Amino acid sequence: MSTQKIQPLDVTVVGGGMITHDQILPSLYQLQRAGMVGRIKVCALNSAPLRALAGSPALEEAFPERSFEPFPALDAPDEAIDADLFRRVIEEQGRHQLVVVAVPDHVHNGVIQAALNHDQHVLTVKPLVPTYAEAAAIERKAAAKGLFVGVEYHKRFDRRSLDARRQYRAGRFGEFRAGEAKMIEPYYYRHSNFQNWFTKENSDPFTYVGCHYVDLVYFITGLKPVEVSVRGVEGAFPNGKIGYMWAAGRVVWENGAVMSVTDGLGYPDLAAGTNDQCLAMYCEGADCGAVLRHDDQFRGVQHGYVDDASGARFRFVSPDYFRLVPYDGPGLKPVGYGFESIEALVHAAAKTNAACQGIEGDEALAARQKCLAEIDQRGLLATPANSWINELVTEAARMSIARDGMPVAIQYSPSPLVRMRT
Ligand SMILES: NC(=O)c1ccc[n+]([C@@H]2O[C@H](COP(=O)([O-])OP(=O)(O)OC[C@H]3O[C@@H](n4cnc5c(N)ncnc54)[C@H](O)[C@@H]3O)[C@@H](O)[C@H]2O)c1
Repeated sequence: MSTQKIQPLDVTVVGGGMITHDQILPSLYQLQRAGMVGRIKVCALNSAPLRALAGSPALEEAFPERSFEPFPALDAPDEAIDADLFRRVIEEQGRHQLVVVAVPDHVHNGVIQAALNHDQHVLTVKPLVPTYAEAAAIERKAAAKGLFVGVEYHKRFDRRSLDARRQYRAGRFGEFRAGEAKMIEPYYYRHSNFQNWFTKENSDPFTYVGCHYVDLVYFITGLKPVEVSVRGVEGAFPNGKIGYMWAAGRVVWENGAVMSVTDGLGYPDLAAGTNDQCLAMYCEGADCGAVLRHDDQFRGVQHGYVDDASGARFRFVSPDYFRLVPYDGPGLKPVGYGFESIEALVHAAAKTNAACQGIEGDEALAARQKCLAEIDQRGLLATPANSWINELVTEAARMSIARDGMPVAIQYSPSPLVRMRT
């Protein structure tokens, strides 16, 4: 029996926005209750989002006995913006602890590099980084230092995805040939902090949420994408900045299969959804068709309320992604694949530390590297070493959308790169 003991990890979360509020912080609080997480610090650009987190009625109800250490302090003036504060907070954290990256897409790499430079494990929201070269550099640096880097593709932890992977890889669906995926986020996102960074030069709906379904098809089938084209539809945010509000993507896979991916910020705010998302994969056997179809939005639960606390009186409720429910303890506890994904990634970082307990120097590094290689090999958690096809897709998509949907090829040999189709 293993004598390795999992030690709690101190965690610095960089970014105090929507995803931190909705998924990351409640998950970390629950892991703190379970003894897997020690101190929790949250660092944002300025104090306003931190005050919103600290005063959140939802978090207060679920975690009345928990709090985080804010950087900057909650009473710092809103106008005091410090884009480098996260560096100092990370530097103060002990070695081999955890940095959670929850900042806008184009800022991920700077935070990840700072974390790795200070010997931190990393948990980052998707997409990891915008280019393959950056992903490869992260992979090399993390491997050399024996640090875990995990990308939070929580759809992988949905039971339907895990089952699909198992059944597909057992040959039950034959071969994927054509498919469609969709993720339309609510219209009100345009009024959120998104309008400050979700502009044409930084991101687009395919990069932002289409990446979930590209990753999922790769996760289920193991097929690599070889061509991407994305056509965007521009629009103005309320502050006048221009972004892509919709995107129609087409991905070609290495076996010739084609998949269309439709994404946008425009699902009606008052509709039941509360967004629109689904995956359909049509497959072929020896002499028959096969299909794998997931309705990821309506999961069989409908609530009609007597009040407007959920934004509308009638909602489809997903009990599968993230819910706060009663349990035998204070407040509420998070359940669902959003929590399980964070839990698995935090556990992987802690397991990497446990692998070198009682040993030091080169031997400890080798033990951590062995543990990391096993995680990469298993392929359940997305890491730079086993999910870099996603960065090739993002890089190709960004290149294509800037050229009105021209197809961009992904080449794997002699070394991975993307190039315009001539
Ligand atoms: N389904 C998903 O997986 C999912 C959902 C939502 C968001 N995300 C990802 O999470 C990331 C953040 O999204 P969000 O919706 O929380 O955005 P948001 O705009 O609500 O929040 C961004 C936060 O980052 C902080 N920030 C920006 N630059 C910073 C810096 N230099 N130092 C410290 N803090 C900084 C801001 O203060 C803000 O608190 C994005 O990469 C997004 O793609 C993933």
